[in-house]
Amino acid sequence: MKKENRSRQVLSRIATNDKHGENSPYFHGWNAYERNRFHPTQNRQGVIQMGLAENQLCFDLIEKWIKENPNASICTREGANKFKEIAIFQDYHGLKEFRYAVAKFMEKVRGNRVTFDPDRIVMSGGATGANETIMFCLADPGDAFLVPSPYYPAFDRDLRWRTGVQTVPVDCHSSSGFRLTRAAVEVAYKTAQESNINVKGLILTNPSNPLGTTLDMETLKSLVAFVNEKNIHLVCDEIYSATVFSSPRFISVAEVIQELEHCNRDLIHIIYSLSKDLGLPGFRVGIVYSYNDIVVSCARKMSSFGLVSSQTQHFLTSLLSDEEFVDNFLSESSKRLAKGYHVFTNGLEQVGISCLKGGNAGLFFWMDLGRLLKEQTFEAELELWRVIVDDVRLNVSPGSSFHGLEPGWFRVCFANMDDETVEVALERIRTFVLNNGKKEDEAPVKKRKRWQRELRLSSSPRKCEESIASPVVRSPHSPIVRART
Ligand SMILES: Cc1ncc(COP(=O)(O)O)c(C=O)c1O
Repeated sequence: MKKENRSRQVLSRIATNDKHGENSPYFHGWNAYERNRFHPTQNRQGVIQMGLAENQLCFDLIEKWIKENPNASICTREGANKFKEIAIFQDYHGLKEFRYAVAKFMEKVRGNRVTFDPDRIVMSGGATGANETIMFCLADPGDAFLVPSPYYPAFDRDLRWRTGVQTVPVDCHSSSGFRLTRAAVEVAYKTAQESNINVKGLILTNPSNPLGTTLDMETLKSLVAFVNEKNIHLVCDEIYSATVFSSPRFISVAEVIQELEHCNRDLIHIIYSLSKDLGLPGFRVGIVYSYNDIVVSCARKMSSFGLVSSQTQHFLTSLLSDEEFVDNFLSESSKRLAKGYHVFTNGLEQVGISCLKGGNAGLFFWMDLGRLLKEQTFEAELELWRVIVDDVRLNVSPGSSFHGLEPGWFRVCFANMDDETVEVALERIRTFVLNNGKKEDEAPVKKRKRWQRELRLSSSPRKCEESIASPVVRSPHSPIVRART
């Protein structure tokens, strides 16, 4: 027997199964980026990372605040007198003032239309840990959660890998702008029941990753009514709530249940984190906020496994308690996100590439390259993606990694780069599209020159649109997994 096989036998099923998703073909994009990273001066030919949902647009504001508030950290001359108090053992409730500051911040992000009870704030290692914790509290191995698709690829790991929970996709279609409806949820629920799958709940991401859209009040009310009727849970991952940069405004499930006369609040849970709204994924601040006392108590006990370091809690308490800073940060962040989104999507529109209409949130947009596919299959989508990664040198994420139903869609992240990199990335996509999705070396030289002239002169989006054919055909779900964030 081979040595590897023998050592696998003595390990657990979790250690030896492949459900983490790391071996997926999508890591090709990450590897290409790692091997040849773009740098504006030192490596302009490198791969630009557009598969990373990180909000780096307002780091200057945070850095300025840190310099002006040296006592916020215990690692400075000004703050070191708090060192002992912060360094000693903290129980899993976390610092009271931290939970209070997070609750206030969550209220502010929701326009102060709702209040949050600091005693219901449970910490976890990022939303990753928070999502897993809530699964452990709500479902047993084999039970299922409904997940509207396309969805955040790492849900497969976060919701399923260690918990044994299953996910059942709720199919959303491009023909309706991927709008989530109660009818679609009912179909998924019924299909699961017919397969003897015990559905324990529905998990939403609002705003959506990867769509960059928000759910409206009517839809949210209908989904809250649905979970109440079925007596199943509703988990709302609201980690992009402060990334909304244009109307319609963000509506939290907290606001919805406040408006409803009849709602069993024990079924409602919110997942939050500071990874996207503040751009601090490295701080690993995740929150489970449940209206159910038993869930709060259980999640809190579990939080021993993924507490946020007290040093981080201490620092963030100061930052989040500075109301003037927070107000300015939130307004500046949404302005910068709006700018990034519009520069990109308008630039693409000029060469006839459309993105999902109604994008108003998130650190990305959902781009339709269906017209460039050789055929309307996920294989063709992967083939196109490899060309985009290897030849155009942009690491965007293919729709199949988000369990999209229709090939040809790509998620493009824009908030992790500076203006200059945006320009280079945009220019690369536009040139590629004007080449009709061919590799540079496949495009006839003369034509390429003419297209490049057109690219510079083009002021008529229509003209470009006409040069591109259009079919978008359905195809079944891809079983394969996913990008990272
Ligand atoms: C919808 C969604 N939930 C959870 C996460 C994980 O966030 P965190 O970095 O806080 O663990 C992400 C990260 O991209 C996400 O997009």
